[in-house]
Amino acid sequence: MNRYVKSIVLDDTHRLTALPVVDTAKPTDDKGAIDFASIDYAHQPLWAYGFDRPPAPGEKAQPQNPPNRNLRPNEDPDEQTKLRHLEGSNAEYSLVDIRDGQNVIDWFPDDHPPLPNVVAHGPGRLGKATRGCGSCHLPNGKGRPENAGIAGLPTAYFMRQIQDFRSGRRRSADPRKPNTNTMIELAKSLTDDELKQAAEYFGSMRWTPWIRVVETDFVPKTRIAGNLFLPLEQAKTEPIGGRIIEMPQDEEQAELYRNPHSGFIAYVPAGSIDKGKDLVTTGGARIVGNEFIRGKTTPCITCHGPDLMGVAEIPPIAGRSPSYMVRQMWDMQQGTRNSEAAQLMKLVMANLTPEDMVAIAAYVASRPPTPAAAPPKPTS
Ligand code: HEC
Ligand code: HEC
Repeated sequence: MNRYVKSIVLDDTHRLTALPVVDTAKPTDDKGAIDFASIDYAHQPLWAYGFDRPPAPGEKAQPQNPPNRNLRPNEDPDEQTKLRHLEGSNAEYSLVDIRDGQNVIDWFPDDHPPLPNVVAHGPGRLGKATRGCGSCHLPNGKGRPENAGIAGLPTAYFMRQIQDFRSGRRRSADPRKPNTNTMIELAKSLTDDELKQAAEYFGSMRWTPWIRVVETDFVPKTRIAGNLFLPLEQAKTEPIGGRIIEMPQDEEQAELYRNPHSGFIAYVPAGSIDKGKDLVTTGGARIVGNEFIRGKTTPCITCHGPDLMGVAEIPPIAGRSPSYMVRQMWDMQQGTRNSEAAQLMKLVMANLTPEDMVAIAAYVASRPPTPAAAPPKPTS
């Protein structure tokens, strides 16, 4: 760490003590006073939500259909029920098995501790509408850009997010995002026991590299399916235009087989990683002559740690999905992630533009998760 950063960290440590004390253990039961009318949709980083145009007034998500094994009218039964194999796995599943979110498939059971019931089959209370956590977040918790990577999160942070989803303090700023609503329904249905099992299971696994960050001026032309970008061709002919475009490394492996060993590529604008590094480590502060000039924000490393692997209940962010991160930053800035703990982030985000968020997320996603940060111990 250079001496400029050191002085800034000190400075902000002082400021930190003046911030409101966050009672992270206290569940909230109000609606969190989210004001959707004040959201600045004209500057929404649409790509981070997996849309290509802003929401029309009043537009919102249709509830997602519960997973089922029924064949659709246009489907070839042989194709759908034929058993498939993956390299390195002894398991075999049909496409019907793969899409059955109530019985989550597990290509690599030796990768992780035994799946708790809720991770494989979902909250019992939801009956036919339930889904296993592993169906979206994958059995190894790596997740996908349109949901979240939940492996290696501190147990206390994990449980607090579920409470925030329940109490209405964590919503998507984009009311069209269907899977966040499903996540909220699942959070509301979890028993204390199911929640503890899920939090400890995912918390016991370490975050390892999953997203390759590539600086570029051009990206492949894409289509959006289920809020996820998929390439239409391999050639890079479309200007990246200040966006981050995150897509499966191998569409067939990720989409058709849900292979939890097949990660993602995040294309980020050329030059963004260095710009992001400056904001993340100094907040954009400068020393000119003998004068210290405050940056536009508090350096992320002040709270998330020098390696960005988190500190106590403040979550690790290194090497995680940059689309997910920008979505969270914008949600917190706009106030739809509105818990007491998120107020700290709201202050940090106050003066950041979507362009700053792109640079910051490009840098943070490019940082290797350090093995030194041991996964948090279960509470029991
Ligand atoms: C339908 C897909 C889906 C399923 C199934 C699902 N989730 Fe999620 N989950 C999401 C999405 C989407 C988000 C991120 C929301 C956003 O970005 O707006 C999320 C976010 C989370 C987060 C917050 C992560 C963070 O870093 O703050 C936790 C914790 C979580 N989910 C736990 C669970 C648990 C436990 C289950 C099983 C009961 C579960 N999820 C099942 C879609 C899902
Ligand atoms: C003053 C302390 C503080 C600073 C500085 C800070 N954060 Fe945070 N951050 C937090 C806290 C606390 C949370 C957890 C919020 C919650 O529980 O909802 C958080 C959450 C996040 C999340 C959500 C993680 C997830 O899994 O959903 C992201 C992304 C994030 N911070 C990025 C950043 C970036 C990037 C910066 C620098 C620009 C930064 N933070 C600076 C305190 C801070």
